[in-house]
Amino acid sequence: MAEITLSIIKADVGGFVGHSDVHPALRDKCSDCLDKAKKDGLLIDFCRAEVGDDIALIMTHKKGIENEEIHRFAWDTFTKMTDVAKEYGQYGAGQDLLVDAFSGNLKGMGPGFAEMTIEERPSEPIIIFLADKTEPGAWNFPLYKMFADPFNTIGLVIDPSMHDGFRYEVLDLIGERKIIFSMPEEMYDMLVFIGSPSRYVISHIFRKNSDEPVAVTSTQRLFLMAGRYVGKDDPVMAVRSQSGLPAVGEVLEPFSFPHAVAGWMRGSHHGPLMPVGTEDDTPTRFDGPPRVVALGFQLKEGNLIGPRDMFADKSYDNARQMALDAADYLRRHGPFEPHRLPLDEMEYTTMPSVMKKLKDRFKPV
Ligand code: F6R
Ligand code: MG
Ligand code: MG
Repeated sequence: MAEITLSIIKADVGGFVGHSDVHPALRDKCSDCLDKAKKDGLLIDFCRAEVGDDIALIMTHKKGIENEEIHRFAWDTFTKMTDVAKEYGQYGAGQDLLVDAFSGNLKGMGPGFAEMTIEERPSEPIIIFLADKTEPGAWNFPLYKMFADPFNTIGLVIDPSMHDGFRYEVLDLIGERKIIFSMPEEMYDMLVFIGSPSRYVISHIFRKNSDEPVAVTSTQRLFLMAGRYVGKDDPVMAVRSQSGLPAVGEVLEPFSFPHAVAGWMRGSHHGPLMPVGTEDDTPTRFDGPPRVVALGFQLKEGNLIGPRDMFADKSYDNARQMALDAADYLRRHGPFEPHRLPLDEMEYTTMPSVMKKLKDRFKPV
């Protein structure tokens, strides 16, 4: 089997109602575009997916990553969906399309993407995660657990083919640089950085002996592109599993603890990342709490066999209950940290305009 590329490209082009869900008319437009792209031979296969107010185009093809034709197709699809969103008066229609016209690829244009080119294995189980009301660094904690923590992934201990560990590529979103850490030898060094997920974000994971990705995340941050607050970045990621990689259950296990992430209400609050089945992917309470869905696929010659709704499983009920309890606890802080984000992160929101108004009233002490 020759190489195939998996591209997940997502955007929020209008919410129903507010920022909680996607209107069926947008879904229909999206499916029409994807159907046509498959018929035209651009795509091998696709799955339209969503979480909250974000729609993701999950696509397989032969054109490689950051390909102009694929990215243009996604841009055109989001543009057509925006027209529908406007027609139906959807909230924030076209909000993630930050530029007037497409050029080259989607970098810096608003939509998020996670892509990898792989040699498909005889059986290729892949889990695709989509999150709403959070940011790309939200994946740091679960990715650390999956590929570096033996208390999560027993395969690191007892499967000889995993025993050497993995390499993590970490982006510095502010410094615009990247670094590779080798696990487990450099675990403490890496944790210094990935423990600050608003700035340092795991972008890829590789085996020790190959540059073919085994996990990939979307890493764009809208405020860095737009220079102002335009909503959180609602990230996606794809993780390959089994046969020398974490088992499906090891890939899902980190989400049994709903860790705290940034992005709830106005992109300005911490909240628990609640794992949900696709029926429950509609953040409503205080525009949240943040949530994540997991879609399981078996790839077969590039065909996306699936999805299976992995977090619909009852065994995540306790995680959901813990998330709801944590949400209650945090909400009672109201406008106080640590529920509200620290001031330096609020600088990218509408907070600076409030500060500006008061700046002349501060007297030296
Ligand atoms: C959107 C989000 C929401 C909005 C909030 C206010 O990603 O997190 O919580 O920030 O609904 O939206 P505006 O300012 O458009 O009224
Ligand atoms: Mg929105
Ligand atoms: Mg969203």
